[in-house]
Amino acid sequence: PRGRVTALRGATVSLRDDPFQAPSAACLEHYDDALIVIEDGRITAFGAYATTRRALPAGVEPRRFENALITPGFVDAHVHYPQTQIIGAFGSDLLGWLERYTFPTELLFADRAHAEQVAALFLRALFAAGTTTAAVYGTVHAHSADAFFAEAERFGARMIAGKVMMDRNAPEGLLDTAERGYEESRALIERWHGRGRLGYAVTPRFAPACSDAQLDAAGALLAENPGVRLQTHLAESAAEVAWVKELFPARADYLDVYAHHGLAGPRSLFGHAIHLDEDAFARCHACDAALVHCPGSNLFLGSGLFRLFDAVDPRRPVRVGLGSDVGAGTSLSPFRSMGDACKVSAVVGRRLAAAQAFHLATLGGARALGVEDRIGRIAVGYEADLCVLDLAATPLLAFRARWCDSVEELLFALMTLADDRLVRATYVAGEAVFDRDG
Ligand code: GUN
Ligand code: ZN
Repeated sequence: PRGRVTALRGATVSLRDDPFQAPSAACLEHYDDALIVIEDGRITAFGAYATTRRALPAGVEPRRFENALITPGFVDAHVHYPQTQIIGAFGSDLLGWLERYTFPTELLFADRAHAEQVAALFLRALFAAGTTTAAVYGTVHAHSADAFFAEAERFGARMIAGKVMMDRNAPEGLLDTAERGYEESRALIERWHGRGRLGYAVTPRFAPACSDAQLDAAGALLAENPGVRLQTHLAESAAEVAWVKELFPARADYLDVYAHHGLAGPRSLFGHAIHLDEDAFARCHACDAALVHCPGSNLFLGSGLFRLFDAVDPRRPVRVGLGSDVGAGTSLSPFRSMGDACKVSAVVGRRLAAAQAFHLATLGGARALGVEDRIGRIAVGYEADLCVLDLAATPLLAFRARWCDSVEELLFALMTLADDRLVRATYVAGEAVFDRDG
C-alpha cells in the first residue's frame, strides 16, 4: 500500500552541483512553476508542473504557493542552542565574551527543566528561520543533549548534536573529566545516534578547554563509533591561536593539536578556521575535514575574516558549510548568514555569487555534515525538508523582487532584505513544522 502522499506547487530553486567548482548557471535548477510530490517524507516526483502533474495520484490536491520560492530546508552547520538567551550580548573579543556571558549562561543548564525549555524554543526558532538540519552544541551537561535530541525527535528532524566535553580553563561547574566526558558521550551515542534521523557529534569545546587526556577520549569515541561526527572550534581568534600555541608547545599548529589526537578526518567539522595558513588548508583537504564559515559571529566578535575562496580552491578543495554560531552569531536566519558571507568575501577581495552563498547554506552544508545524499537539494529520493519563502513578505521586498530578472538576482535581494518575515512555511519530512498561515 502507498504511504501518505502530499504535494507542493510553486516556484523552486535548488542546486544540482557545487558552484565553487562549476559555473553557477550549470549548478542552479530553477522552475517558475514546479510540483513536488512527497510520499512518506521523501520526494517521489519533482519537476515542471506541466510535466510532473502526471505523477500526482488521483485525489491529491497540491498546496499551491503564489508569489513564493520553495528551497531546500537550510543547514546551520554550527550553532549553540544554550546560547539562544545571549544573542547580541555586547562584549569584547571571543575569550572575554566566553568568560563574561557564555560560561555563566551555560551554568544554568545544570537544571534539566531549563535545558528542556530552551531546546523547545530554539528548535521552533530554527524552523521559523527555515533551517531544518543543524549541527548543535549542548553544554557540558549530558541532559542538555538529551533535551535537544528529544525535541528534535518529536518533529522527525535531521539533526546532529552533542554534549560539550571540557575539563579545564572554565568555571568548576562547567567541567567534566576525561573519563566522565567519555562515559557520558558514549551513553548518549548509544541512546541517540542513528535513532530516526538523529546523529551524534563528539563535541570537545575547543583545544584550550580540553586536556590531552580529554582530546584522546574524544579520539577514542570517534574511532569506536562509525558514523558519529566530531565538531569543535578551530583558529577562531588571534588570541585563542596564541593561547593554543602556549598550551600545546609540541604541536606544529592548532590543526595539528586535533590531528595528533585523531580528531582530524572526514567526519570532522571545524568551526571558524579563520587563522589558517595554506599548509593547514592543504592538510584539511588531505584528511577531508570540513570547515564551517560563521561570518555573522566573526563580524560580531571581531574574530577575523574567513578566506572562503582559499578554502575551496579547486586545486585542493576543502568542504565548507555555513553556520550561524548563535549566540556569538546574531541571527538564526540562513539569509542573514549568506548576506554576511557575501560581505566578508567582498572585503577580502572575492565576490561571492548568489548561487555560491546558497550552496553553503544548503548542499554545501549537507556535504560538510556528510548527508548530501539525503538533504540539501530538492530532488527525487531526497528527504522532503523544504522551506517556502514569501516574496511579498514586506512591501520593500515585494517591490525589490519585481526588479529582479533572474533567480540569482532574486537570491541576492533576499540575502540583503530578509528578516524573519521571509519564511512562510517550513517542512520536515513532508510535514509543516512551521506555518505562518496555518
Ligand atoms: N570557542 C569555544 N567555545 C566557543 C563558543 O561557545 N562560541 C564561539 N564562537 N567560539 C567558541
Ligand atoms: Zn561556536
